[in-house]
Amino acid sequence: MGNLPNVYLYAANNPSEATLAKRRANAITVSHLTPPLASAGLYKGLAELKDSLTRFRELPPGDSARDDLAGLIHDQAAAVDLEGDAETLWKTLLETEGALITDGLHVVGKPMDDTVRRELLDVIPGLEKDARENLDALLCANDELQPLMRALGGHFVPPVPGGDLIRSPEILPTGRNIHAFDPFRMPTAHALAEGTKQANLLLQTHAALPRTVALVLWGSDNIKSDGTPIGQALALIGATPRFDSYGRLSGADLIPLEQLGRPRIDVVMTLSGIFRDLLPLQTRMLAEAAWKAASADEPPEQNFIRAHALAYAEAMDVDLEIAALRVFSNAEGAYGSNVNILVDSSAFAEEDELADAYEARKSFAYGRDGKAVKNAELLQKALKDVDLAYQNLESVELGVTSVDHYFDTLGGISRAVKRAKGEDTPVYIGDQTRGTAKVRTLQDQIALETRSRSLNPKFYESLLEHGHEGVRQIEAHLTNTLGWSATTGQVDDWVYQRMSETFVLDEEMRRRLSELNPKASARMANRLLEANDRNYWTPDEETLAALQDAADELEDRMEGIAAE
Ligand code: BEZ
Ligand code: MG
Repeated sequence: MGNLPNVYLYAANNPSEATLAKRRANAITVSHLTPPLASAGLYKGLAELKDSLTRFRELPPGDSARDDLAGLIHDQAAAVDLEGDAETLWKTLLETEGALITDGLHVVGKPMDDTVRRELLDVIPGLEKDARENLDALLCANDELQPLMRALGGHFVPPVPGGDLIRSPEILPTGRNIHAFDPFRMPTAHALAEGTKQANLLLQTHAALPRTVALVLWGSDNIKSDGTPIGQALALIGATPRFDSYGRLSGADLIPLEQLGRPRIDVVMTLSGIFRDLLPLQTRMLAEAAWKAASADEPPEQNFIRAHALAYAEAMDVDLEIAALRVFSNAEGAYGSNVNILVDSSAFAEEDELADAYEARKSFAYGRDGKAVKNAELLQKALKDVDLAYQNLESVELGVTSVDHYFDTLGGISRAVKRAKGEDTPVYIGDQTRGTAKVRTLQDQIALETRSRSLNPKFYESLLEHGHEGVRQIEAHLTNTLGWSATTGQVDDWVYQRMSETFVLDEEMRRRLSELNPKASARMANRLLEANDRNYWTPDEETLAALQDAADELEDRMEGIAAE
């Protein structure tokens, strides 16, 4: 590009990719807001169920009216694909109601209207009166077009940290040049303490102490949390970062077993290409932590990394240095596992092809020297010992069904583990996007997102106000859901059934969607049929026939438009 200016309009919450844009293409990023947030609320059958549960909870135990209500509650719960006792149902409803969702899309330069702004301020945790007023004023005054024009005019664009509004209000005003972080200070002491807490929460959630955890690490979640996921990895291994006398990250040390109080857990760390690019010091530090654990003079029953590394060294006839490699990513310059591309284009016959793609792309082992060497055999050996796979949510804005990257990384490795072991692996999502950490099974996370987002009129109507792009986003939720079926099999039947009813089988909605975006609406119908073809869902014959008719109708309409 030479000295041609590269002014790049960029989402304020994406400091990791913004940093790459700056490094690779000399970009001056001009930040813009992401969609406002709102709480999901309840709708239709979920709201009715909550009414009944509220009445039930108000009645004294032993009151005969409770028994009548219990029958109604059971039926109402079944109608919204829920089961369990009153307490369980209550908790599920509260979690769904309070879940944060994105409210439509952000239009660059367009101020938020009053109700949207108020609701956004309402959902930001711990916002005191003064801070709220301050934030409100900043949002009202926020102007993204003026700074964009200034940047295009060759003027200075002031810097701003990247992040999401809910955790980092300092991203306001937008229209500024995003910077990321101080690479020498990550993970911070706070991130280590948080990471340790979250790692313990994961261990409590899983039924037994895992010997190996497959941990997916991204750049963005680490940047936004000063390295908390890195802290999780270190905590599981029982290690801590080492800083030199200037306070710069210089490696990792082991925490003594007595202090750890449990065995060292083996961690297969898979880095996104972005993490690998942005965090080379941390990549080496993690490799050093694994190496030090593998070579520690400790009983293997107290040190699963050592136990596994010794076994791999023997089986593969390699030295311990190689057998102790646990940090895997793409080859230099490559990103992603391609599992998302295969799913999006339906270009796989058997799900094991997704495992093949994952392993081909992600089997580059990064050593203590930061260099990568392809070692598919070692990755396969390590995957065979994995007891659970885990990834953190990056932000409130993006759920595991909003973008295709989650099933590309966490789904990809889960499928590779399944192939290596010949059985399903438990998959967990760590959600600390709202301050308090929560670990959910993937199945629960998908159910929560489906109820609070995809099927929620508040969510999809706000998207549909944006026409064509709104339909595309709804379609993406469905495709990403199919990506989870393909990689983990952990999507309930009702998800596809209700998506069919809401977006394809409802005549009025089908017409609306196809008028706004004929291509995406036809894709939705075909995706649902694909889910049936691949046995991710077994609809009754009537539903299947109706879907087929709808798909034909939508295809015809699309071809008609193309012919015109
Ligand atoms: C990352 O920050 O590592 C990342 C961002 C988007 C997609 C995948 C990974
Ligand atoms: Mg991109």
